[in-house]
Amino acid sequence: MQFFYGILGKKRAGKTLIAVLAVVLIMILVAGANARTKRSKDALQNVVAMSHYEKVVALTFDDGPGYKTTMKLLDGLKERGVRATFFLLGEKVEQRTEVVERMKEDGHLIGSHTYSHVQLDSVNLEYAIEEIEHANEVIAKITGEYPTYIRPPYGAWNAQIEERVDMTPVLWTVDPFDWNVKDVDRIVNYVVSEVKNGDIILMHDIYETSVVAALEIVDRLQKEGYIFVTVDDLVIE
Ligand code: NI
Repeated sequence: MQFFYGILGKKRAGKTLIAVLAVVLIMILVAGANARTKRSKDALQNVVAMSHYEKVVALTFDDGPGYKTTMKLLDGLKERGVRATFFLLGEKVEQRTEVVERMKEDGHLIGSHTYSHVQLDSVNLEYAIEEIEHANEVIAKITGEYPTYIRPPYGAWNAQIEERVDMTPVLWTVDPFDWNVKDVDRIVNYVVSEVKNGDIILMHDIYETSVVAALEIVDRLQKEGYIFVTVDDLVIE
């Protein structure tokens, strides 16, 4: 301050100080914008790094799309500003194209859960590949892009499939057995007590209880400072 007063006099010093502060503010904003661009360009490394000191978690939904339940979930996620990952069954995608369009529109990550929920390692390899490719075609027809992430039903995957398919299998780290429990409080309490930084939560958007629980989980974890990301930000390819 004395420096400014000294060379400029009080009046001009005030104006100059405001100008300097404005320049500093702009520099901070530009630095922030650069950091964000870098994060989206190099999402994986950044989030892995970020996960050392932040609370990052991914909500994932299998076996859909449902209709009413999924639409309700999409409304709730939108209200909360949360993006999730949906692993869709090709046969249901064909019946509910408008739900998938809405998912895409809302910016969720769309992955595959095969065409008809087969256990990929227990069928003929060619049949397994056909299940995966058929689902990819059906999804791409609506979204305009082939999914690159797959959640194999029952977590069943093997080296032969891996060799033939250029997709990243995504498993999970928190499983509340929502499809079996069908009790909102029990699902919420389990997830909230188990969850930690970097977790991938497995749920199913075809059950009303799961949808209500998922939105409550978002509310509770957001209050705890968690940030919801899609699995492409957490999985190492
Ligand atoms: Ni499933």
